[in-house]
Amino acid sequence: MRFSGRAAALTLATGLLLSPGLAKAGGTVEVLHWWTSGGEAKSIGVLKQEFEAAGGKWIDSPVAGGGGDAAMTALRARVVAGNPPSAVQLKGPNIQEWAEQGALTDVDAVAKAENWDAVLPPVIAKIMKYDGKYVAVPFNIHRINWIWVNPAVLAKVGASVPTTWDEFNATAEKLKAAGIIPLAHGGQPWQDLTIFETVVLGIGGADFYRKALVDLDENALKSDTMIKVFDEMRKIRGYVDPNFSGRDWNLATAMVMNGQAAFQIMGDWAKGEFLAANKVPGKDFLCVPAPGNGFILNTDSFAMFKVSGADKIEGQQELAHLIMTPDFQATFNLTKGSIPARIDVPLDKFDDCGKKSAADLKAAIAANTLLPSVAHEMAVPRAIRGEFLDVVTNHFNSDMSSQDAVTQLAAAIERAKQQ
Ligand code: BGC
Repeated sequence: MRFSGRAAALTLATGLLLSPGLAKAGGTVEVLHWWTSGGEAKSIGVLKQEFEAAGGKWIDSPVAGGGGDAAMTALRARVVAGNPPSAVQLKGPNIQEWAEQGALTDVDAVAKAENWDAVLPPVIAKIMKYDGKYVAVPFNIHRINWIWVNPAVLAKVGASVPTTWDEFNATAEKLKAAGIIPLAHGGQPWQDLTIFETVVLGIGGADFYRKALVDLDENALKSDTMIKVFDEMRKIRGYVDPNFSGRDWNLATAMVMNGQAAFQIMGDWAKGEFLAANKVPGKDFLCVPAPGNGFILNTDSFAMFKVSGADKIEGQQELAHLIMTPDFQATFNLTKGSIPARIDVPLDKFDDCGKKSAADLKAAIAANTLLPSVAHEMAVPRAIRGEFLDVVTNHFNSDMSSQDAVTQLAAAIERAKQQ
């Protein structure tokens, strides 16, 4: 235990009367997460190391699968079996859903002792709390709407970085004509939806994004703008290689890295992969905000599940404390590709992509263009997200017309809203 506020929090939370002299950090945590790619494993490895160095026992329960769908299935099975892990990578409304079911515990004593309210952006603090108490702990701010670019590949066709979707399409056509794969993509529903929401922002703008994807407004879902979004998705389908189905996102990143493809549309965990392979931003690869004004937000957090026994509760308190230390937030996010959730962590060690993300985030908050990601579980309940996944993926993998896609999407969302 590092300081008295934390000692007091722990004492309160565990009901143990530890005198500061006897106090010892530690406890046991079992952590369920989906951070298994090169950059991800390196980042979570830092937390494991710090937790163990503080005297704790770390039980790692990774469930591979970007976007976390497989991890969420595993979680449900564990909870149904009455044996939840202590900490789970969980996000947005999903945190609220589990809290409503009574599955979560809080780490509010640590949060109060460390004054988390003063160092987190209100939008993030709100997501972490249930009934006014912190039930989850945030790591970072990931941005979704990026295009990752191999500049050497672009140079082969004399193209520069696209700033509109029309330019993107024109460059993609040029690349295709030159026998180069324009877009590295993994055909998994969450990756399709990641591109889709980026295109919704790009073509519809922030207000439209909010109306259609967050407020689930039927008129917006059925609008001509949404038809244009699906038209663009159809074009994008033509820019991926024939082997895209089922490919993991990090393998798609590798295609950009090794010059097989020019672009990837993906959140900035892709940067974590480039960095893990010792690639240099601004030289070997570029991070370019996808056309469109705004910032699609994805914050990773660990939610704390109800577990019993002082050792496990102590583990949760220690973990919560460690995740929120300024040093850890800097180290973790330097390899993860994101920026810290804490607003008081200096960004001088971060590269230009990280600095750009922080500047654009600030501008987006001021302009009210900060938007929660649907694909990454920040915006809508899981059941609604599931409808988006289905329609977007079905459209991407068939010759469905944009009109049919829009009609199906609006109907599916209306149905899901009634349930
Ligand atoms: C998570 C990221 C993760 C990515 C790919 C996203 O949903 O927020 O932390 O790197 O999925 O696995």
